[in-house]
Amino acid sequence: MAALDPTSTSAWNSLDDLAHKVGDTSLRDLFAEDTQRAEKLTVSAGDLTVDFSKNRVTDAVLDALIKLAEETGVQKKIDAMFAGEHINNTEDRAVGHVALRMANEQSFVVDGENMVPAIHAVMERARAFAEQVRSGTWKGHTGKAITDVVNIGIGGSDLGPAMAYRALAPFHDGPRVHFVSNVDGADLGRVVANLNAEQTLFIVASKSFTTIETLTNAESAREWLLRELQADTSAVAKHFVALSTNAQAVGEFGIDTENMFGFWDWVGGRYSVPSVIGLSVMLGVGPTHFTAFLDGFAKIDDHLRIAPARDNAPLLMALIGVWYRNFLDFPAVAVLPYNNDLARFPAYLQQLDMESNGKRVRTDGVPVTYETGPIVFGEPGTNGQHAFYQLIHQGTTTIPCEFIGFFNAIDTLAEERAWVHNDQLFANMIAQAEALAFGETADEVRATGVEEALVEARTFPGNTPSTLIVADALTPSVLGQLIALYEHKVLIQGAIWQINSFDQWGVQLGKVLAKVIEPELAGGETGTHDASTTAMIAAYRAKRG
Ligand code: F6P
Repeated sequence: MAALDPTSTSAWNSLDDLAHKVGDTSLRDLFAEDTQRAEKLTVSAGDLTVDFSKNRVTDAVLDALIKLAEETGVQKKIDAMFAGEHINNTEDRAVGHVALRMANEQSFVVDGENMVPAIHAVMERARAFAEQVRSGTWKGHTGKAITDVVNIGIGGSDLGPAMAYRALAPFHDGPRVHFVSNVDGADLGRVVANLNAEQTLFIVASKSFTTIETLTNAESAREWLLRELQADTSAVAKHFVALSTNAQAVGEFGIDTENMFGFWDWVGGRYSVPSVIGLSVMLGVGPTHFTAFLDGFAKIDDHLRIAPARDNAPLLMALIGVWYRNFLDFPAVAVLPYNNDLARFPAYLQQLDMESNGKRVRTDGVPVTYETGPIVFGEPGTNGQHAFYQLIHQGTTTIPCEFIGFFNAIDTLAEERAWVHNDQLFANMIAQAEALAFGETADEVRATGVEEALVEARTFPGNTPSTLIVADALTPSVLGQLIALYEHKVLIQGAIWQINSFDQWGVQLGKVLAKVIEPELAGGETGTHDASTTAMIAAYRAKRG
């Protein structure tokens, strides 16, 4: 079906006009003109408070953006997703991550079948398994309890669980969980170097069970286990489980499908942490906290569907992102969690956003004539302040920032020191947002006594927009809410851009070429390549041990 060209809508035209008229309006002026601005532009979504006031938007811009969402059929896309329609059109699949956190009485119907009972059934199996491992009832091949779990996966089968496990560090009360993703042998090698095979459980997480990095790591892990235990393949059953949609490949690998937890092709890899792909998180924090994590997602799913446009956090976030990307030409967005446990959150969002919306054709295959997904990057504060913030404050590119912070630190240092740290952390976050928005003019710099020759170098132009996302504390529920907020932002932006946010054809070509080159490096017959690739293959072969 032909997709709409969003640039042909009347809202797009209005936004083009507004970009010329108010695109440069200063945040200083916007705040001076309206003392209620912060209050008016702060919304609540579940337990999250999102302050949009430091964004370069006026009422007219927001109205036009909301109109753009209407004209491009955002609501229809959301409804189609919840209705189980095949909105992933290039793979002819439904998109069902929202079903993973639905209550029993809800339904998610894909091709005529309500999938919610099956989702609950497999999660129940996962919970029972997690309880067995956590309580020590599940024994390894030599009869010992499991102390260490290694999740082997990559992309969505790694980034989500690794990010969430780390984010929920204060809730860890199960076996230690390690994550191996890179096919660089150093990754697996360094993890297993410190483990006792008798007490180690490997989770092979792969939706397709064909991902070469994961299978290579899993094979090496199996070899390590059998060597360490001096056992035959019968030992695998007590030390390997699989999370996958591909039972046949799991069986062929040698993992008993009894030890497999399944999901469905309509759960995209980068959306899969609330499925059994989150098993490693469940093992680490326990089923109860994992349920709270899922409930957090559900809170924002509800918010998405019921909050009016002006109070709808994912919608506003998406629309403001479109304003920056398509009308003010800002190419990137920085995600800056002021919470060390969220260290992997920017990396997680890179896949969520860039693999979803890094697309150059519309759903009907027609090339877009406008920008799509932004470059996403970030680091936890305050570390980033001492690295790349210089460019954000005084460089030549405007980079909108998304700050994430918490009023309370959980379970860190002794109470009085915990507050010293948290006060400093939070102060830095809101100070950065203030500095970025309002800057420091040349006159203000002069007034501090700076010598004239240095005034320009020390001036801060300001007017760099930011959003503040805050909550009381980083609990399992709040983490689920944060993830869902971003998932829906990505969905809405993809709907406006008329792209398919749920396929990822752009990862294929490199994989195919690597498969060709790998045997050539190992001494096989060489094929035809460009001169640079050919020279590098020859250099590698000459040095290969
Ligand atoms: O290479 C991209 C990708 O397909 C991601 O979309 C996915 O999350 C990752 O690989 C891992 O895939 P799998 O879970 O099938 O191993």
